[in-house]
Amino acid sequence: MSTRSARLGSALTATPAATVVLALRGREHHVQLKLESANRSGSIKDRTAVGLLLSMERHAPLLPGTVVVESTSGNLGLALAGLLGPMQCRLIAVIDPRTSPATHSALVAAGAEVVLVDRPDGHGGYLLSRLDTVRDLCRTHPGHRWSDQYGNAANPRIHRLTTGPEIAEQAHPGLDAVYVAVSTGGTLAGVSAHLRSTGRPIRIVAVDAPGSLVTGAPQGRRLIPGMGASRPSAFLARHSYDASRCVADAEAIAMCRMVLADTGLALGGSSGSVLHACLADLAGDHPPRHPLCLCPDGGDRYATTLYDDGWLAAVGEADRVRDAESRLRADGLRIRLVEPRARRREPQRQ
Ligand SMILES: Cc1ncc(COP(=O)(O)O)c(C=O)c1O
Repeated sequence: MSTRSARLGSALTATPAATVVLALRGREHHVQLKLESANRSGSIKDRTAVGLLLSMERHAPLLPGTVVVESTSGNLGLALAGLLGPMQCRLIAVIDPRTSPATHSALVAAGAEVVLVDRPDGHGGYLLSRLDTVRDLCRTHPGHRWSDQYGNAANPRIHRLTTGPEIAEQAHPGLDAVYVAVSTGGTLAGVSAHLRSTGRPIRIVAVDAPGSLVTGAPQGRRLIPGMGASRPSAFLARHSYDASRCVADAEAIAMCRMVLADTGLALGGSSGSVLHACLADLAGDHPPRHPLCLCPDGGDRYATTLYDDGWLAAVGEADRVRDAESRLRADGLRIRLVEPRARRREPQRQ
């Protein structure tokens, strides 16, 4: 194994699991939240980045001066930039207007060259336009290397080897449901492959966004970075998950804001989606007893978007978010962090 591979391999450490109690319609439910914000660059994409770079290194060494190109909603770009910088390699991050301003600035600060693609792809997002740009860059610069989170099998593999086993180890012994947000589907495919291999009867729920083609969600606009995709996943098979739930942006944002208000914990938008999907099952006829929600990132990077009233009004979601909060409160929703105890931390404007 090269020194570079060893260094990349040691960039990952296990992330913590917190427990919240959700009071809903007069009943209390314990829910575990696996907090991927604890990764070095603040999101689950640290894992994906390590997996992708290890596979690229195996294919041809990532020598100083190597230029890596990737289409990213931001998190993978930050993770790749953080790993490539010390290797004297460079990242070109192809992003779109849904990437938050804080993430855009952080990418530049981490040394990435940022290419902003603002041509909608006709499927509720920008992914297909971003991928066209990546292909153009690689065609005009034959030395550039594309890490390809959408097609490289190293993406699901790293989650089968790290995220899945951590969940199995940290979760309550009676773990009976896991909720995972999907975009490339790499996280879900890897987590599912590991959990299925344990033989435990765990229901795996894919959480998608309106208009996404990953699980065939109904039409709609997508605002939350990292959720959904304008094409089906290359990694997911129908047996990778037992059910899918589509969560509207306003419901996910309302969930994030209520978690922050009640516990001081600032979650990212896709974590709000995942928790909302879990809540819908908890309110159903056969609620899971020991569910776990995989929370891909934290709220810090969304202070000027999802957590900002002015932004919500500007994107026309303020009323819908307020209605969603009122409905959930009317159902008696209250959230309490039981472990570890919360230190109140508002998302910081950067
Ligand atoms: C915040 C966030 N949530 C969810 C996901 C979905 O992960 P995956 O691409 O593995 O399906 C991502 C991926 O970009 C993300 O950044």
